[in-house]
Amino acid sequence: MFIECDNLVKIYKVADLEVVALQGVDLLVEAGEMMALVGPSGSGKSTLMNILGGLDTPSAGRVRVGDHNLLDMSRRDQVLYRRRQVGFVWQQTARNLLPYLTAQENVELPMALNGVKARERAQRARALLDQVGLNHRYDHRPDRMSGGEQQRAAIAVAMANRPGLLLADEPTGEVDSASAAAIFDSLRTLNREYGVTIIVVTHDYNVASRVDRVIGMRDGRASTEILRKRDAAGVTLSEDEFAILDKAGRVQLPQAYIDSLDMKDRVRLHLNRDHVAVYNVEKEK
Ligand SMILES: Nc1ncnc2c1ncn2[C@@H]1O[C@H](COP(=O)(O)OP(=O)(O)O)[C@@H](O)[C@H]1O
Ligand SMILES: [Mg+2]
Repeated sequence: MFIECDNLVKIYKVADLEVVALQGVDLLVEAGEMMALVGPSGSGKSTLMNILGGLDTPSAGRVRVGDHNLLDMSRRDQVLYRRRQVGFVWQQTARNLLPYLTAQENVELPMALNGVKARERAQRARALLDQVGLNHRYDHRPDRMSGGEQQRAAIAVAMANRPGLLLADEPTGEVDSASAAAIFDSLRTLNREYGVTIIVVTHDYNVASRVDRVIGMRDGRASTEILRKRDAAGVTLSEDEFAILDKAGRVQLPQAYIDSLDMKDRVRLHLNRDHVAVYNVEKEK
């Protein structure tokens, strides 16, 4: 397993208040996977991404990415991890690129910080820009590119040092649907080309429907999972939705089920030969 989160907890302390952003996330991701994280605002998606990206540290639990145990990394290891092992794309286009550098210079910058020689930098930067469909934008500054183009340039920047993991937090959040499709295609191309593991947070149903695995977050937990099987041409053969059973034995019932049976506080469980039934205690009376 490339990524292993085990009972991951994140608590933010704000003044006297404690906000539990993640309350025991278990997540396994294989190397080379491309998956989506979906869920309502405040469900902990960005918190999880920031922890996986080494930008934030968990309060408890275990989290490993490749050989890196993200729980006890020295400052120096954390800097190196961020510089070499992971690439990050943010929702806000302006946060991803330096405004006074061209697209190619933006892609070259992380390589320069990593000591890559000038000739190789230029070659690699252009190859990446080609792969995200920006071969006509090498010398353009961000303000001369569309929002979608800026996000694709940002993806090239994130891939500059050939990270094993690419994290994109709502990369299509500020662009129209045609641009969103192009952004997604770029992620898919790089996933195939380099085998980079990709996690993308999205509200966009079209994006989520085009990956093979979608994890639904709710209240700081991974609560549902959709798995799709496709043939070689990419046509969906089957689609299964699961509730996630975590190591503590917890399952989250879909809100719609709870509402439809008006269940509250406690439910009765009944073990059958091949399934577990959940009953509304009130209605049994
Ligand atoms: N830096 C922070 N300080 C305090 N609370 C935070 C911070 N970041 C996130 N939170 C809280 O943690 C919860 C999860 O937030 P977040 O991970 O940003 O959710 P999402 O990305 O799914 O919208 C929310 O209740 C949010 O208010
Ligand atoms: Mg977020």
